[in-house]
Amino acid sequence: MRLPEITNPVALECRECHARYPVEPLTICEECFGPLEPAYDLEAVDGVDFRKHVEAGPASLWRYEALLPGGPGIDRVDLGAGFTPLRLAERLGERLGMERLWIKDDSVNPSNSFKDRVVSVAITIARAFGFEAVSCASTGNLANATAAHAAKAGIPAFVFVPEDLEVAKILATEAYGAKVVAVKGNYDDVNRLCTEVAEALPWAFINVNMRPYYAEGSKSLGFEVAEQLGWRLPDHVVVPVASGALMTKVHRAFRELVAVGAVEDRAYRISGAQAEGCAPVADAFRSGASEVRPVKPDTIAKSLAIGNPADGWYAIQTARDTGGAVEACPEDEIVAGVRLLAETEGVFTETAGGVTVAVLKRLRESRAIAPEEETVALITGNGGRAVLGRVPRRPPRLNRCAELRRTAPRDETDGVLTGREGPCGRSSRSSWRGCSSQEVGPSPR
Ligand SMILES: Cc1ncc(COP(=O)(O)O)c(C=O)c1O
Ligand SMILES: [Zn+2]
Repeated sequence: MRLPEITNPVALECRECHARYPVEPLTICEECFGPLEPAYDLEAVDGVDFRKHVEAGPASLWRYEALLPGGPGIDRVDLGAGFTPLRLAERLGERLGMERLWIKDDSVNPSNSFKDRVVSVAITIARAFGFEAVSCASTGNLANATAAHAAKAGIPAFVFVPEDLEVAKILATEAYGAKVVAVKGNYDDVNRLCTEVAEALPWAFINVNMRPYYAEGSKSLGFEVAEQLGWRLPDHVVVPVASGALMTKVHRAFRELVAVGAVEDRAYRISGAQAEGCAPVADAFRSGASEVRPVKPDTIAKSLAIGNPADGWYAIQTARDTGGAVEACPEDEIVAGVRLLAETEGVFTETAGGVTVAVLKRLRESRAIAPEEETVALITGNGGRAVLGRVPRRPPRLNRCAELRRTAPRDETDGVLTGREGPCGRSSRSSWRGCSSQEVGPSPR
């Protein structure tokens, strides 16, 4: 079989020493062990033409093909990931005291998370390299995205996940026809195993030997934010952090748009969000440390549960370079964040989105974000599959009108369900507070 010629990117380049390598399934610099990243011929891209080409392109991440691997001439594996709504979040903004808050709603991607973007790129390149099977180590969303895109490409997928992953995510991955392997241990154990398996098997491992290409897909979130704001950069972007790749690549996307002249250069800040139960990047940022020390994850935000983040240090550099921060929220604020977004904006996110909203709230409360700062919060996954086990399954039934009136309107500052149920099945810190179990009728059968 003759393989297509990959003309984009022009090379892989070491992030540290800038040594160049051919566009192959390589990940690490032989000179200094730094990570390799795709390099583009930015001087050949004209900003005005780029914008025209984008605007005439498909309603997916592939509209930015000039700055993505697998550009023109490569047969894409495209389920329509990307070009998701940028929603003006007026009601959430009002609750948080923010005048211009936007939600980038990536919960509506084909398999319900932003991972569809990275996988669409990675499997496109894997197929161009001639790989006949794909695999990945996943905290859940990557598993779904890999399985869905492998199904579309008609190639087998083998997905490795931690044994305690949410059942709903495993079921979805299997529904796409992937083989799921549950590994004893956490994500970092899964990743270690996959790195060993990748040496032995001729598969494309999305986030191991395909990592330089995979991570590039995250840039499309940054491109879209700029395009949807009318080709300009916002003041601040708040990004959930697991490996740190997404946060790093949003910064890269903005730099590339400036370099080709598609947007005007201006100061912007990028901040990262983690949960206290797995906050190695936030810990290092807050303490001013010169390295990210691995932790053992213990968080309900399973999709962010990476204790030894590959791009953690670059995420810290992104925050420092741009004047942003990396913050963490306590575990009990995660479901509160999910609920706050759902009840103000009608967007039901998963725990990673809960972390983003909770950290956004903290950054605002600590005045790290000013009221007038135009801020974009990246909501990267859908709540349907993952969080349902964390919120009361059955809403309490109120038997009398008076009870209904007593519960509404909701307290502005404290009206957020925490997900911690009292004996009556109601949240312990919520607008239902003050009720006693007798006031709640039996749930309908
Ligand atoms: C929903 C969601 N948001 C954010 C992230 C963080 O991405 P990254 O690993 O690039 O930091 C992940 C990673 O799995 C995720 O699943
Ligand atoms: Zn190097």
